[in-house]
Amino acid sequence: MLRFNQTSPVMGFILLGLSAHPILEKTFFVLILLMYLVILLGNGVLILVTILDSRLHMPMYFFLRNLSFLDICYTTSSVPLILDSFLTPRKTIPFLACAVQMFLSFAMGATECVLLSMMAFDRYVAICNPLRYSEIMSKAVYLPMAAGSWVAGCSTAVVQTSLAMQLPFCGDNIINHFACEILAVLKLACADISINIISMGVANVVFLGIPVLFIFFSYVFIIATILRIPSAEGKKKAFSTCSSHLTVVVVFYGTILFMYGKPKSKDPLGTGKQDLLDKLISLFYGVVTPMLNPIIYSLRNKDVKAAVSNLVFQKRFSQ
Ligand SMILES: *[C@@H]1O[C@H](CO)[C@@H](O)[C@H](O)[C@H]1NC(C)=O
Repeated sequence: MLRFNQTSPVMGFILLGLSAHPILEKTFFVLILLMYLVILLGNGVLILVTILDSRLHMPMYFFLRNLSFLDICYTTSSVPLILDSFLTPRKTIPFLACAVQMFLSFAMGATECVLLSMMAFDRYVAICNPLRYSEIMSKAVYLPMAAGSWVAGCSTAVVQTSLAMQLPFCGDNIINHFACEILAVLKLACADISINIISMGVANVVFLGIPVLFIFFSYVFIIATILRIPSAEGKKKAFSTCSSHLTVVVVFYGTILFMYGKPKSKDPLGTGKQDLLDKLISLFYGVVTPMLNPIIYSLRNKDVKAAVSNLVFQKRFSQ
């Protein structure tokens, strides 16, 4: 109905998703559904063991539990909609639902960036200042650190989402994406979006640039400290306590840099191969990191590994 009236404001958006590729749609529906189930299971188990196992009652595992919880929230904010868009070609989504979805994805993504740098600080104190670790990383410190990540992530998402959604949308209301991704929505606005571009740039510096630098310098100090440990055994032991976090950081920022670094497609109609590839990469980016986090931690971290097998063993025992 709205498509015939070019001047009235848009009441909703149409998600194009993979409508042009019905076979890919079915394949990716199954693939993404399976990955989503792995995400729920893996992160759910990690949350459970960090609560149940008293040996994991430490700031590092508190942050890890928060990260798992965040990963569940992050994927749940978009995956159900993406799966639905695979089943319903040209799915319509009301304006408000689109805004909520955009807010949640942005908030969770930004929170994750900050939380990862808080975790780097935790590792920095543990390695470079081990004697004062329990004093510095007390409950009065790590709880506000985690809460601060959530507040910062949600505040920037409020700003970006409201800036995007107050724009006039008048003609084309077809989002060439699986979800209400902010850049895909901005493309549809029929007004000047330079304020939005500037504020997105500022958010990128604050939520990507600064955390990356912070993590980088934390690890410079961590590695310098580890290299000064005389025994090889001690070096290995110290490194093993931060290798999981370092792997997660490399995967998380590696995929972001890969997405930013690759050449941009210039095809606005979404018919080209490059455009399809862009969409699939962003689809995977959203589910790969949350899926890998629990796998990395349960494979690389001895304590988590022990706690998980403990949980499974106890379960079998009681059955
Ligand atoms: C994550 O951190 C926040 C802020 O400290 C806290 O309120 C919340 O309960 C934590 N979530 C989990 C699952 O630990």
